[in-house]
Amino acid sequence: MKNIDSYSHTRGESIYVDDIALLQGTLYAVAYDSKIAHGKIKHLSIDAAKAYPGVEAILTYRDIPGENQIGGIIPDEELLAEKEVHFCGMPIALVVAKSQEIAEAAAKLIVVDFEILEPITDAREAARKNKLILPPRTFQIGDTASQWSNCAHIIEGIAESGGQEHLYIETQGAYALPLENGTIKIYSSTQGPTAVQRTVAKVLGVPMHKIEVDVTRLGGGFGGKEDQATTWAVMAALACKKLKRPVKCILDRMADLRMTGKRHPYSSDFKIGLSNDLKIIAYEATFYQNAGAAADLSPAVLERTLFHANNCYSIPHTKVTAFSCKTNLPPNTAFRGFGGPQGMFVIEAAIVKAAEKLGIDASVIQQKNLLQDGNVFHYGQVVSGCEAINCWNTATKLFQFEKERTAVNEFNKSNSLLKKGMAIMPICFGISFTKTLMNQARALVHVYTDGSVGISTGAVEMGQVVNTKMLQVAASIFSIATSKIKVETTNTTRVANTSPSAASATADLNGKATQLACEAIKKRLLKRAAVDLNANENELELKDECVLHKNTPTELTWNKLVMSCYLNRESLSESAHYATPEINFDASKEKGHPFAYHVYGTALFIVTLDCLRGTYETDAVKIVHDYGESMNPFIDKGQIEGGLVQGIGWMTMEEVIYNKEGKLLSNALSTYKVPDIYSVPKEITIHPLKTHGSELAIFKSKAVGEPPLMYGIGAYFALRNAVLAFNPSVKMELNAPLTPEKILMNLYA
Ligand code: MTE
Ligand code: HPA
Ligand code: MOS
Repeated sequence: MKNIDSYSHTRGESIYVDDIALLQGTLYAVAYDSKIAHGKIKHLSIDAAKAYPGVEAILTYRDIPGENQIGGIIPDEELLAEKEVHFCGMPIALVVAKSQEIAEAAAKLIVVDFEILEPITDAREAARKNKLILPPRTFQIGDTASQWSNCAHIIEGIAESGGQEHLYIETQGAYALPLENGTIKIYSSTQGPTAVQRTVAKVLGVPMHKIEVDVTRLGGGFGGKEDQATTWAVMAALACKKLKRPVKCILDRMADLRMTGKRHPYSSDFKIGLSNDLKIIAYEATFYQNAGAAADLSPAVLERTLFHANNCYSIPHTKVTAFSCKTNLPPNTAFRGFGGPQGMFVIEAAIVKAAEKLGIDASVIQQKNLLQDGNVFHYGQVVSGCEAINCWNTATKLFQFEKERTAVNEFNKSNSLLKKGMAIMPICFGISFTKTLMNQARALVHVYTDGSVGISTGAVEMGQVVNTKMLQVAASIFSIATSKIKVETTNTTRVANTSPSAASATADLNGKATQLACEAIKKRLLKRAAVDLNANENELELKDECVLHKNTPTELTWNKLVMSCYLNRESLSESAHYATPEINFDASKEKGHPFAYHVYGTALFIVTLDCLRGTYETDAVKIVHDYGESMNPFIDKGQIEGGLVQGIGWMTMEEVIYNKEGKLLSNALSTYKVPDIYSVPKEITIHPLKTHGSELAIFKSKAVGEPPLMYGIGAYFALRNAVLAFNPSVKMELNAPLTPEKILMNLYA
């Protein structure tokens, strides 16, 4: 089953927000944003901009009818700055004009008189000054303090990882239309239609039922549109309400880079203790998360860092603490992995530093400490269905780790200007929103009288191909051709109170809801068939658009059966609700069973470093991945390749740079380097692990959206090994991304 969108994508016919046919009288909104990172607004002069021909309005916080508040988890973020600005790029006013060009030109005429305040851009500095989003949190198991004396080896250090720009191809944007009686319909490029609906209602001071949000698809989200698409939808809706005209608010690339948050940079301290036989006895870490100027999703991201602090290792004594630090940068936000990668980088760094001190390969420590069933995660969940060792052993055999290592060593002995490096990266990622209540979804399924089917769910298509998976669910339950089924837009009036499409859980949650709805309709259909065929319902089934009786086709086709139901005045529609069973978490104890299941995998990396230039190539990445029983192997393989490359980019080349004044220097695609066709691994091999999946995964097909990103961490350590092969005495920091510049400095340090 190929991606149902591939035909229109390749023909350029797929519709994104900026492609929607314009309504007459459409206006364009451009945010005027702060040029400084921290300061008090002494005076805002908008008169010149207002007088610019073609400008319809300049809106400030004074024009907001409801609350000037867009914070999702904590109400700490103004839509438009009132008295103070907290980051470069913070919106202060909204210019609404007859064209985008006019709005942009007029925005340049706005002048703000600031009292400049000292900005903080560093997370540790913010922590020292006690500028925290929330009090710190600690997850622990065992008692680390009492264990250090039992450790044969104790290694401490600092590990840092940088930010990351989402770089969705479709930039942030929304289009708001005024309907009758104060109702507004918003087309938004958002992962969270309900978040948009709720926040627009709050800012406009209207009930949620006045706001309809509709999403066809996103040109990528990657977490960047889980919370931060809301801002632009609210701007469009605000102008739409004020002027009673359709309003578009779409960011150009540089505005998007400047005004939106990114992956959280982390700076972390670690301490790891091992026994003589290399068992990890104790691990402590303190994470300093650079949250930016408002909470956004930072508290939830922070929580997932704590959950994934041990990656796939069983560590009986663990104590991890995390600080969410408030700085004068754009609020950082969800990004594929959602804090998990940042936590996993630190434990891998700790293991590598220990291995280097002991003069052994890191894989020896990794392998000896892999999780297995019956272990307990430091947050209390008992490990079950664990595939960590299975993945590792399968990869070891299949990809011949030992042979590869020998080949790398041989190569390095006989080459002085090229060095190879190898690393192994095992992963373990928990599936479910860490906030238990968010693990719910609904679906609405209609069967029309001609036998065609329409499905609505809360799932947002953003390139992960979830719509195709929803369609597969319905097609398999009804046993009808996929051409009979249409997946509708994601719309808050058809499916309400949705969780964002995130946490890799979209297909599971919405797929299970779709499954329930389809099964309920199927049950009614078979009941009708039993009457029509004068047969026992239990002996009937639907197969290939036909009713089978005792496995033999009858003359009752799908189409006839559907019509028969309708003629007998039976419902051909169903709305179903699904909530993940079994999961729970008690934040007062920081213990529970937060995840439906975990996804595992092991990746082998081999890189080649040019020691004259500091440049490098990834020769091969070979992965054994735990898909469960993939319901769409081609799509899932694409998710692994994409996640992997995004992870390699984060670890090795993408460098988000702000100066000390909080201004983004990497503010264009000429200064922010993402992986391209020349820098992707020359070989990617993905081997599906044979497993049974999980009952809580849709059709036992495990979630695949985020876990593969963390394979990318292996690229960092493979490169590090290549540098050390050239310059064994260098004291390398554990600081990502490991860019060619940084590598060059280390080669000759
Ligand atoms: N793949 C594409 N092509 N585009 C995206 O925006 N987002 C990722 C991942 N894969 C994304 C993607 C992120 S951050 C998540 S959480 C999951 O898809 C969300 O979709 P799922 O829950 O259906 O896996
Ligand atoms: N993952 C991704 N997105 C989220 C989560 C999560 O656990 N919680 C809230 N948003
Ligand atoms: Mo993904 S970071 O959960 O949108």
